[in-house]
Amino acid sequence: MITIKSEEEIKLMRQAGYLVSLTHQYLKPYIKPGITTKELDRLAEEFIIEHDGVPTCKGYEGFPATLCISVNDEVVHGIPGKRKLKDGDIVTIDMVIGYHGYQGDAAWTYAVGSISPEKKYLMEHTERALYEGIKEVKPGNRIGDISHAVESYANRYHLGVVKELIGHGIGTKMHEDPDVPNYGKKGTGPKLKPGMVICIEPMLNLGDSAVGILDDDWTIVTEDGSPSAHYEHTVLVTDDGYEILTPRI
Ligand code: MF3
Ligand code: CO
Repeated sequence: MITIKSEEEIKLMRQAGYLVSLTHQYLKPYIKPGITTKELDRLAEEFIIEHDGVPTCKGYEGFPATLCISVNDEVVHGIPGKRKLKDGDIVTIDMVIGYHGYQGDAAWTYAVGSISPEKKYLMEHTERALYEGIKEVKPGNRIGDISHAVESYANRYHLGVVKELIGHGIGTKMHEDPDVPNYGKKGTGPKLKPGMVICIEPMLNLGDSAVGILDDDWTIVTEDGSPSAHYEHTVLVTDDGYEILTPRI
């Protein structure tokens, strides 16, 4: 069931989304060679709790941390640990925060030190693919319009579209209806209506689209070892378009 949020609920979702934005902003200066992914996770958890938020991922289906931190060929759901970031890495930080019962969810890929032109290309075009999808968000359009826009942009830039993981509706729970795949046909799927809130989240690979899972049963990696990027926003359908609830600040 796709829920339509009331004005009151939208206010809370805007606050949840803003706390996600603030947490990303807070972490950014720490994303430097030498820091461990576990240290980033601890910083985020403390910041979220100080701001009256709940780290929703921690304990979700047994996930052990606040952040999903995925480095280089890791696509999503990387578990923070002793690994130190190094110059030339790209790292995706994905977080879900609860605030007064409502959830916000956003992921960004960051460069660690100076990165290769190939990684820059991947990051730039994955972020653009997200905005191509967001541009389709308006009442009357369908989920398939978003999916198609993301996929066709990725194809134009020869990036592999990960199919096994998809975007989703969001509200009091981090995963609600509808599914928001990063591939599909225009004019198909559920119709967008004002008050719906969805997460659009392309995961694109510099190489092939195939992925596998590590022995930790969480970390998704590219099969060919190529780097992967992931950008995600929580987006509200408004009367005449969209509002990004997790703005980059
Ligand atoms: N942010 C992820 C998503 O978009 C969810 C994290 S998975 C978890 O679906 F298990 F770590 F919570
Ligand atoms: Co999400």
